[in-house]
Amino acid sequence: MKCFVTGGAGFIGSHLTDRLILEGNEVVVYDNLSLGKENYISHHFSHPQFKFVQADLLDDQELVKAMAGSEVVFHLAANSDIIKSAKNPGIDLEQGTMVTYKVLEAMRANNTQKIVFTSSNVVYGEATKSPTAEDYGPLLPISFYGASKLACEGVIAAACHNYNLQAWIYRFGNIIGQRPTHGVVLDFYNKLKRNPKSLEVLGNGNQSKPYVEVHDCVDGILFGLNNSSGSVNLFNLGTAGAFYVKDIPKIVVEAMGLKNVEIKFSGGVRGWPGDVHTVRLDVSKLKDLGWKPKYPTSVEAFTAGANDIIKELSSKV
Ligand SMILES: NC(=O)c1ccc[n+]([C@@H]2O[C@H](COP(=O)([O-])OP(=O)(O)OC[C@H]3O[C@@H](n4cnc5c(N)ncnc54)[C@H](O)[C@@H]3O)[C@@H](O)[C@H]2O)c1
Repeated sequence: MKCFVTGGAGFIGSHLTDRLILEGNEVVVYDNLSLGKENYISHHFSHPQFKFVQADLLDDQELVKAMAGSEVVFHLAANSDIIKSAKNPGIDLEQGTMVTYKVLEAMRANNTQKIVFTSSNVVYGEATKSPTAEDYGPLLPISFYGASKLACEGVIAAACHNYNLQAWIYRFGNIIGQRPTHGVVLDFYNKLKRNPKSLEVLGNGNQSKPYVEVHDCVDGILFGLNNSSGSVNLFNLGTAGAFYVKDIPKIVVEAMGLKNVEIKFSGGVRGWPGDVHTVRLDVSKLKDLGWKPKYPTSVEAFTAGANDIIKELSSKV
């Protein structure tokens, strides 16, 4: 396949790029490096089937040019800093919704017909059915990030109908593993480096969410793509159960080799405005197709991913 990966220098995108190259595909990574890092993909720079374009998705001309000849677009680029955009919803409107519209227009210009989109469980908002399946509604997100993901799903579905495209939309749980650009483990690690005696945890610690190890996430994306052929193929991509925020400090503190750290909870049921405190995903749709993650429960996925992150961060010091 000739693949175009937006956000390919980011956390998940760089792992997806590794896998696509490993399987013999041609890959163009398009990323403005606003959150991603060049060294997450630099090991591919001399590969004949790899090309990196450092540019912004809001640059229509550059985007159309860079996408020429691509057969499938993996659209991962977005603002992933959900706490920052809670204070400035324009970020999600521009870096989520508008950017997705630009990607679809570039696909139309290039006659590229397949799009894979990385959505999120946050489109469900505070769902009253748990675990939550893909056909749950009404979809009432409580964050601007979630609202943008839902808008993106809508505009992609409309493009499929109007331009005869095919889409694979994945509503992710929380993804965890090496090369993080954001997220709770990186946040705790940085806080503990600054002050190894005390750690502030946002919320009361009872928030609980499903986790997916990043290689499993990439595997699930490609599994769904290779094993479903509808016009709009929609999947939850998660694991069984959830991991509680109150259990995260212990794992990070131990992996960093620290002792006697005072854990302080900031209080409240959410970590920040728009934080969905309890999420459980029904993952039977992808599972019934035959997908088997290496780490099938959130506890296994979180533990493996968090230890990998700490190992990676510690080796850089
Ligand atoms: N990490 C998770 O737990 C998680 C959960 C649910 C959904 N997602 C979604 O998966 C996707 C990838 O997430 P991630 O964690 O790898 O995030 P990330 O921030 O590491 O990667 C996003 C990449 O997009 C790039 N980018 C952003 N805006 C751009 C623009 N205008 N033009 C060009 N490049 C741009 C950034 O530089 C970055 O490299 C995102 O769409 C995110 O919303 C992630």
